[in-house]
Amino acid sequence: MYISGVGKTKFGVLQEGLHELAYAAAVHALRDAGISPKELDAVYTSNFIGGPDAKQLHLNSVLVSLLQCEGIPAFRNETACASGGTAVFQAVHSQYSNILVVGVEKMTSASGKENGMTIGFAGDRLLDQEEGLIFPASYALIAQQHMLKYGTTLEDLALVSLKNHENALLNPTAHFAHKKVTLEDIKNSEVVSSPLRLFDCSPISDGAAAIVLTKKRNGDRDIQVAASSVATDSISLVQRKSLTSFEATKKAAKEAYIQAKIKPQQLDVLEVHDCFTIAELVAMEDLGLCKPGESKEWVRAGKTKIEGELPINPDGGLKADGHPIGATGVAQLAELTMQLRGEAGKRQVKGAEVGLAQNVGGVGGTAAIHILRK
Ligand code: COA
Repeated sequence: MYISGVGKTKFGVLQEGLHELAYAAAVHALRDAGISPKELDAVYTSNFIGGPDAKQLHLNSVLVSLLQCEGIPAFRNETACASGGTAVFQAVHSQYSNILVVGVEKMTSASGKENGMTIGFAGDRLLDQEEGLIFPASYALIAQQHMLKYGTTLEDLALVSLKNHENALLNPTAHFAHKKVTLEDIKNSEVVSSPLRLFDCSPISDGAAAIVLTKKRNGDRDIQVAASSVATDSISLVQRKSLTSFEATKKAAKEAYIQAKIKPQQLDVLEVHDCFTIAELVAMEDLGLCKPGESKEWVRAGKTKIEGELPINPDGGLKADGHPIGATGVAQLAELTMQLRGEAGKRQVKGAEVGLAQNVGGVGGTAAIHILRK
């Protein structure tokens, strides 16, 4: 399969509603691919809280209606924050030839309290949330364990945040595209769940992203999907052997490297699921970029900056590009496609030919990995 078109709206606190965002990203991707809705064989949509937040479910039917391509099969996929990655996985492994995948979320019209509760729907209700483990608290436990085991510091987390905020300044569609942030701002921000502060968290964002997948390669701008894998783990943290790594990421990555016939050392650029800063460090270790506990050394040495040895999250990541949940996994692939085409503008990673995206649902309950090749 090839990605032949990409589209993305601005991420952030937006005026547009769910329908407008989904439509805008879809049209952008179709134009980029040079195909019309009538040429599509199937549509996949990815969305998490359209029901509670935007009061709209059945988004597959919404999309075919908006695009006036009624009649073709269309599907809605929900796998929490991995909804985008798993929607693309299903499309890639399907029987269809011309497919549109649209990820969308409208979150900012709900209150912070409502969002905290509805995002919690993606975690374990029976064991974890009874004990107060909402998302920031779960990732705070992971950060505490990583610090105890490997000597990771608050400064290391702040450096991840700073790098992603600096990258977002180069990305006009990022949630924090215009917010200049210093290391001091990050380190002095309010504690959300210790040790995680405001600037360790991804924000609540609106936005949409879309890609067009085609079985046939149609031109030089098409980017090959070299691997597409999904793996799972127990939803509850108390049933895990370790809190400092995600088995689902490790399993899906192992399978993806086999499919693409590459080693992690051959990657040129990555988009990883930094819903909280600690998640970026854990991802680097689980994806085999470095040994467990070594990610902090990479961050301290600046290896993951755009001009570094292995750039991670050049668009700003979930931290600063934003995290409209259903759109995130699709946006990661749109970004990698732009990077591998050499069309990423000021945030272009020089000479990028192979990229990997890691999209995680819940606190590591699901992981989707895609490897793209120029
Ligand atoms: N990082 C940096 N700044 C943030 C931010 C974030 N994550 N979230 C909000 N802000 C900023 C806003 O831009 C605003 O700045 P301004 O005053 O300059 O305009 C200010 O903080 C207040 O915004 P508000 O929306 O009132 O924040 P909040 O306190 O309601 O929410 C969090 C902050 C951290 C609770 C919220 O962003 C959150 O829940 N994030 C995690 C989302 C999540 O769990 N996603 C799923 C991951 S698996």
